[in-house]
Amino acid sequence: MKIDVLTTFPDMLVPVIESSIARIAAEKGIVSIEPHDIRSFSENKHGKTDDYPFGGGDGMVMTPQPLFSGIRHCLDNVKPEKPRIIFPTPDGVPFSQDLAEDLAQEPYLLMICGHYKGIDQRVRDVWVTDEISIGDYVLTGGEIASLVIIDAVIRLIPGVIGTLDSALSDSFSHPLLDCPWYTRPEVFEDLKVPDVLLSGHHARIETWRQEERIKKTRERRPDLYHKWLSEQKKD
Ligand code: ADE
Repeated sequence: MKIDVLTTFPDMLVPVIESSIARIAAEKGIVSIEPHDIRSFSENKHGKTDDYPFGGGDGMVMTPQPLFSGIRHCLDNVKPEKPRIIFPTPDGVPFSQDLAEDLAQEPYLLMICGHYKGIDQRVRDVWVTDEISIGDYVLTGGEIASLVIIDAVIRLIPGVIGTLDSALSDSFSHPLLDCPWYTRPEVFEDLKVPDVLLSGHHARIETWRQEERIKKTRERRPDLYHKWLSEQKKD
């Protein structure tokens, strides 16, 4: 998979790309992520990428010209058949594991990081295929949201993480939240691992894990719990 990222802060992305799952995916030759500075596409002599909103209002809006040029530059290099062009924005559709799984099937993604009030609507109308929110809060720009989306997507590509099993058994690949996990030692500072996990009794361990998943989901995410309950009733 190739991922191009249009941003006014390419330096913000580099340390994460070079030290996270993205580096492992790049080393294995499975994913390549390339940040592009939106300013370098600006035809303004000062490299300006934003302006005041028509009709008035506080804040600045990113102008269409550098974004149209940047998008065309990225697409011309790759010539993808049906490019998914993603704009992370708080007014987008909620990001989810299902959407991450869908994006993980694509050979190419282009991410557009906005700042200030956002980007000129014409960029969204002409180019953007997916407007995605990573949660009901407002970040100062799209870079962190893009990194969240990239991380969630690339770990699902076969070969990126050790066993696909561990991606599939996560919370959200599952209708319930995950159960607690323990490793050695059995006792640490008087804190003991639950006996059942040391019993070697696989059926009992699985029952305990499922009970823990149900308990956690009911407490923290009643919405998911009720969805799971109604699916159980159907079966
Ligand atoms: N940009 C700013 N806030 C955001 C959010 N919550 N989700 C996605 N992109 C954003």
